[in-house]
Amino acid sequence: MRVYLDNAATTPLDKEVFDAMAPFMLEHFGNPSSIHSHGREVRSAIEKARRTVATLLNTSPAEVFFTSGGTEADNAAIVCTCRSLGIKHAITTKLEHHAVLHTMEMLEKQGDVQLSYLRHDERGNLDLEHLEELLANQPRTIVSIMHANNEIGTLNDIEKIGEICRKYDAIFHSDTVQTMGHYKHDVQQIGANFLVGSAHKFHGPKGVGFLYCDASTKIQPLIQGGAQERNMRGGTENVYGIIGLAKALEIAYRDMAEHQKHIQGLKDRMIYKLREQMEDLSFNGMSEFGDKSLYTVLNVSLPASDINEMLLFSLDIAKISASGGSACSSGANAGSHVLRALGVDPLRGSVRFSFSKYNTEAEIDYVAETVAKMYKKELA
Ligand SMILES: Cc1ncc(COP(=O)(O)O)c(C=O)c1O
Repeated sequence: MRVYLDNAATTPLDKEVFDAMAPFMLEHFGNPSSIHSHGREVRSAIEKARRTVATLLNTSPAEVFFTSGGTEADNAAIVCTCRSLGIKHAITTKLEHHAVLHTMEMLEKQGDVQLSYLRHDERGNLDLEHLEELLANQPRTIVSIMHANNEIGTLNDIEKIGEICRKYDAIFHSDTVQTMGHYKHDVQQIGANFLVGSAHKFHGPKGVGFLYCDASTKIQPLIQGGAQERNMRGGTENVYGIIGLAKALEIAYRDMAEHQKHIQGLKDRMIYKLREQMEDLSFNGMSEFGDKSLYTVLNVSLPASDINEMLLFSLDIAKISASGGSACSSGANAGSHVLRALGVDPLRGSVRFSFSKYNTEAEIDYVAETVAKMYKKELA
């Protein structure tokens, strides 16, 4: 048995999604910008995919722009807002994905924005009173705060953050890459200026995503070139990627309740099974507090041991694909800026298990047992 528990990194493609994409690789190959029938049939399929995404998010197709993935969508939202709207102050958190953090750091280094970081506690919960303090008496600001953290799974109340941003006339971008396709996002309710999706996180293809940009936020494109995406993103469209993205999101919304129940069950089982067989464990983030944590992600800190140097490698040898990284940066571990920001003990090995609809209880039992055995042997 080889077990894949790295679904926050990427998910396997759904066969139903592949079947929807295949005709656009072989038969419908036209360039959607061409005016002849080969082009027109593909243009029409892209617009249908856009309508599907827009309907699921309760918005209009004019507010959905396809991109090469989450990273590009995050970059476009942040960089283009600062450039086009002359924004000089930005607020984010030290817990964001590098697609946001590195973009913000670049803007700060170039002298384009003054950057403020929001306070958080050791489980990754944000201090929203601090957000109000940071927004008060500042020029117009961009606030970039993710919905769920990709490493520890802590969920942020983006509706509340949207409300605060509106109160202070700030632009709100939320990196929703880890929750898109896992929760039913209604953009009318969230009230963000920007949301982001990446198909490969919800059983769609890699290299395609989208940016939701609310119609009143007028930004210039990040990528110059052709008139694709209504002049907002030059470059021939990733046609079969876009078709696959829309299909994957449709399936995700259709089956969400059933999959959420199954996956939450797997996560709870992993917590229970690990606790049953091991002592001195801790779960990073809000995993033990039910709906405060993304149900697909479990980040566990294991006992201090020599084994931690090669933890992911040892798991791989035991036929388990997972990811993570301790708070330090050494050897096989890349080190995690999120765990460091939370003050997690660097001597402990930390691993992220992330689940999907394809995982089974038998796999969870195998992984928990294998991890417990690895440490028992080492600590004996
Ligand atoms: C929170 C978050 N934002 C952005 C990204 C980047 O998305 P993509 O792989 O589509 O560029 C990821 C991917 O891991 C992510 O987890």
